Amino acid sequence: MHAIETFPRQDNQASLQLNADGSLRHLLTLEGLDRALLVDLLDDSERFLSPMGEIPVRSQALAGRTIANLFFEPSTRTRASFDLAGKRLGADVLNLDVNTSSRKKGESILDMIYTLQAMHVDIMVVRDASAGVPAYIARHVNDHVSILNAGESDVSHPTQGLLDLLTIRQHKGRFDGLVVAIVGDIVHSRVARSAAHGLHTLGVGELRLISPPALAPDPGEMPFAMIMDNLHDGLRDADVVMALRIQRERIGNLDGIPGIDEYFANYGISHARMKAARSDAIVMHPGPMNRGIEIESALADSPASVITQQVTNGVAVRMAVLERVGKSMEGH
Ligand code: CP
Repeated sequence: MHAIETFPRQDNQASLQLNADGSLRHLLTLEGLDRALLVDLLDDSERFLSPMGEIPVRSQALAGRTIANLFFEPSTRTRASFDLAGKRLGADVLNLDVNTSSRKKGESILDMIYTLQAMHVDIMVVRDASAGVPAYIARHVNDHVSILNAGESDVSHPTQGLLDLLTIRQHKGRFDGLVVAIVGDIVHSRVARSAAHGLHTLGVGELRLISPPALAPDPGEMPFAMIMDNLHDGLRDADVVMALRIQRERIGNLDGIPGIDEYFANYGISHARMKAARSDAIVMHPGPMNRGIEIESALADSPASVITQQVTNGVAVRMAVLERVGKSMEGH
């Protein structure tokens, strides 16, 4: 018999993640984090960047601490960057192999968490296909333990949101007055939601969410954004264009979802499509990319593309977040 656990989808995550003094204890969502904290995290991330070819920035901020990476969904970028970030801060990093973990034998999430806590794990980095899991764990861990959301169903991917904000700030130097277009499978995208909340908090000029109607979010969910289904209109004079993958693993019924050729023709980002955007517009993609479906391969490799810079920023952002939650453990 497998243990049945249920997780409330909306669990007042915003208040759960801050200590009484306003410092960051867990990172579960960007929604509800204030502008000053987001800016501090972006500024901290800059300290962890170094030119390619040089030895990466290191510190001993987490020396003696233990981080467990618990990825119950596939990942390349997020898992590798949390692993490197923890090691570059001097922590011991445990990458649990989910295929051989006892969760496969029906062990509950909480029993797994309590087991890791008993081994002095201080920070748990969690990716799971079920909404509500990071907050559920955060409510049950010991006082000094921090939970970092590394991708939660279609709900939230806060460190991805931060690395996207950092990349935009590096290129544009501001958020006010910017036109940002996010294109693709918005309704199933935790990346879009985290980017949208972060951009809204930082005062983006105009946020456009462009998708086929079947992949559009509920208009009431992000009232600060424009929901559009025409790509040309959505890209007009955009400063930033972010392409998203179709999240097939989260789509039960493919009715109303265009086939690959039709999708690329109507929603694929290409050099031809980018003529509607500003001439200095940047092109982003969180990865993993499906070249020739949501993005033209040549555009992904073009000077307008900042996709590899997003990956580089991912390590720096995760170091900044780990360092910050590490500081909030110091009193324990
Ligand atoms: N962007 C992102 O979350 O990529 P991974 O699935 O490879 O971690």
